[in-house]
Amino acid sequence: MSGSSTIAVRTGLERDTQHGAVVPPLHLSSNYTFEGLGQPRTYDYTRSGNPTRGILAETLAGLEGGERAVVTASGMAAINTVLQLLEPGDRLVMPHDGYGGTWRLVDALCRRGQFEVDWVNLTDNEQCRAALSRPARMVWVETPSNPLLRITDIAAVRALAPDALLVVDNTFLSPALQQPFSFGADIVVHSTTKYLNGHSDVVGGAVIAKEKPLGDTLGWWANCLGLTGAPFDAWLTLRGVRTLKARLKQHLENTKALVELLAQHPSVSQVYYPGLSTHPGHATARRQQQGFGAMISFELHDEEGAVARFVDQLQHFSLAESLGGVESLIAHPASMTHAAMSTEARNVAGISDQLLRLSVGIEDADDLVADLGAALDLVKPRVSQGGPA
Ligand SMILES: Cc1ncc(COP(=O)(O)O)c(C=O)c1O
Repeated sequence: MSGSSTIAVRTGLERDTQHGAVVPPLHLSSNYTFEGLGQPRTYDYTRSGNPTRGILAETLAGLEGGERAVVTASGMAAINTVLQLLEPGDRLVMPHDGYGGTWRLVDALCRRGQFEVDWVNLTDNEQCRAALSRPARMVWVETPSNPLLRITDIAAVRALAPDALLVVDNTFLSPALQQPFSFGADIVVHSTTKYLNGHSDVVGGAVIAKEKPLGDTLGWWANCLGLTGAPFDAWLTLRGVRTLKARLKQHLENTKALVELLAQHPSVSQVYYPGLSTHPGHATARRQQQGFGAMISFELHDEEGAVARFVDQLQHFSLAESLGGVESLIAHPASMTHAAMSTEARNVAGISDQLLRLSVGIEDADDLVADLGAALDLVKPRVSQGGPA
């Protein structure tokens, strides 16, 4: 990741030449005067371009190491922008276990004939190799995946599909922990709603292109379809980005403590976390990431009512969708974040009704461990069902 001083400069320091404001000004204006007939200034209309949103775009492009970023109204708007690059007959290779909203959009557009799609387990070498032996216009990677935290080797996918547009959804790690361009990605997608903003008060997204011409095409579509983000959201997200590295440090420290608890607790039948040496993607994550992330998924033993009792007991983990904010959350993917997927697609992806997902916040680690431990103790299985994974 670029150093924190780079973040400071890119996020607004020394930007305000008029007053020297340390925080970049917020330009809410929807439109801008022309200097004269046929003489537009840099900005004319905020859907097409806005100074505050422009600073965020430059910041995100810089952090990811791309040439151009487009800031969108949501992560889904970012994904929708990227899918505009596909035409009828184009083949899209999608991971079988990504975010439920991405599944819903791709499935709906495919049914309308906008492109063809193959859902593939890209973390399975044989399946990946077979799927990429046929030409694909675009390959989509979400690593770590939502919610099972499977790890896809980006460089391996690039090598198997050298001619495809390689898109990586980097939402779960942010550029602070993973830079997909250095492994051959062409496009990086973010829900900035998550770690980049980090305070659960913005829904936003971004698409970053490695090369400017591709970024310009994506910018054209975002403007054409009206998918660009609001200036105030950009301003808040810039505030979030300034503390990204510091927040992640605490997120990771807290996550480590919680994983240790979950991995040895008798109420837990399975833990999914790439930092565990038993995780199938551990070696790849170690190579590809600068940290294992602050999302943990796990399954409780299949006891009647255990999931509901467990969730009710928690005091420091709010039952809510989304992730990446400073506060700890718990979600039940099957009925919440991944309810948009068909039951069959959920089963193929391995998302069971016993699965729970934690977004670990930056609260005091001792409070989180005590809270999770008490809830786990409450749902200890009556008969021994074997130890945790
Ligand atoms: C990995 C991933 N990508 C994209 C999205 C969509 O982002 P948004 O909710 O900002 O539209 C989400 C939302 O949870 C996500 O988890």
